[in-house]
Amino acid sequence: MEEKAQQTFELTDPVRGRSAQLPVRNGTIGPAALDIAAIHKELDVFTYDPGFGMTAATESRITYIDGDAGVLLYRGYPIEQLAQKSSFMEVAYLLLLGELPTAKQLTEFTGNIRYHTMINESLLRFFNGFHHNAHPMAMVSAVVASMSAFYHDTMDIHNPRHREIFSHRIIAKLPTIAAAAHKHSLGQPFIYPRNDLDYAGNVLNMVFAVPCEPYQVDPIASQALDLLFVLHADHEQNASTSTVRLAGSTGANPYAAISAGVSALWGPAHGGANEAVLALLEQIGSVDNIPKYLAMAKDKASHFRLMGFGHRVYKNFDPRATIIRAMCHKVLERLGRTDNPLFELALRLEEIVLKDEYFVSRKLYPNVDFYSGVIYSAIGIPRSMFTVMFAIARTVGWVAHWLEMISDPGMRIGRPRQLYTGATRRDYVDVKKRG
Ligand code: CMC
Repeated sequence: MEEKAQQTFELTDPVRGRSAQLPVRNGTIGPAALDIAAIHKELDVFTYDPGFGMTAATESRITYIDGDAGVLLYRGYPIEQLAQKSSFMEVAYLLLLGELPTAKQLTEFTGNIRYHTMINESLLRFFNGFHHNAHPMAMVSAVVASMSAFYHDTMDIHNPRHREIFSHRIIAKLPTIAAAAHKHSLGQPFIYPRNDLDYAGNVLNMVFAVPCEPYQVDPIASQALDLLFVLHADHEQNASTSTVRLAGSTGANPYAAISAGVSALWGPAHGGANEAVLALLEQIGSVDNIPKYLAMAKDKASHFRLMGFGHRVYKNFDPRATIIRAMCHKVLERLGRTDNPLFELALRLEEIVLKDEYFVSRKLYPNVDFYSGVIYSAIGIPRSMFTVMFAIARTVGWVAHWLEMISDPGMRIGRPRQLYTGATRRDYVDVKKRG
């Protein structure tokens, strides 16, 4: 068979007359990437890409996004099909292991996750050290980091079995830690996991049940939560996933790397947006106030952004937002809350924004977080727990990326370079001589 010639780009420095040959690396779909390894050696320059908007930091086989076409694939499967037909546990298996499980494999995998849902009682006592109004994301990040103290000697990142146990443990225990953070905020007793429930049902039980009366998981709420988990499970090299990869690339304990991911997710430009959207809708209050807030969003001096709009990658629509929007209708209908004023306001805001020149010209569409808060609040999840719910789901993605990175024999520590713009070399001046 005739071998295909390696395509290269030539980059020339016109001043020094030197050039570098940059090989083109092709993926299976999507844009190719220029391998710039030779740039520094041949031309003595770095590339400059603040926010890494144009830089492929790694090869990955997990998730594919086409931001212009509004496409999201997990291991090749369209998010719309997974949202309609799959479940969070099945998606977790798919993301971690690359293929949809057989019925037997799924039962085994779900059983492994169930087996690890309890957390060490000493870990539970950590929560007493937090003030009652500590944000749950702060508590979750801290407690996940401290899991590295419990599983350090038994966690050899180069041992595949240790990696597997880690992946089951963290996915199983994140809901337990999240619910414990919530119960601590309320001053209520911690509720132990119930392994007879499915993943989402167990989350709801640990968040809402109290020891003094029976609690019945609402199947509509559990279905809605499972779907939100599916939609949030992975999103290729986003800020929190890249954080997990960067922290993990140093060989750090993976629980500590996941904790770094939780912290990165918390920011309002990322996962914290779902909480911020609801705060914004409450702040806007009524349709009459929308123009005032749109004007603020356009005013660069105000630093105010319309939360839930815009995305680094999606410049057409966020397919997850389309699914959630439709689900919002269904959930509110089935819960008998069709007159939900926040949903009404969200719909009107979306309608107005989608006709506004500022947002249209910048391709700012509603993102996944725009409607998720409305669903969370309809099923009773308090606002401070929205981003925690996102973290529970995204843990699967973080783990899948960490596993992919660690098992890659070519893994290198993540170490970006910079364009230095500080002072040039100067000599130290004694403190008495400084003017
Ligand atoms: N409201 C008003 N203006 C906006 C918004 C917004 N929500 N988003 C972007 N812009 C403007 C921005 O001011 C800039 O205008 P100009 O070209 O005149 O300077 C232009 O649109 C491009 O914005 P950018 O900041 O260069 O875009 P980015 O890719 O760096 O940021 C983003 C993406 C998601 C951080 C941003 O759109 C944003 O802050 N959105 C609100 C927060 C939000 O909803 N985040 C959730 C993202 S989806 C879930 C997740 O990632 O976890």
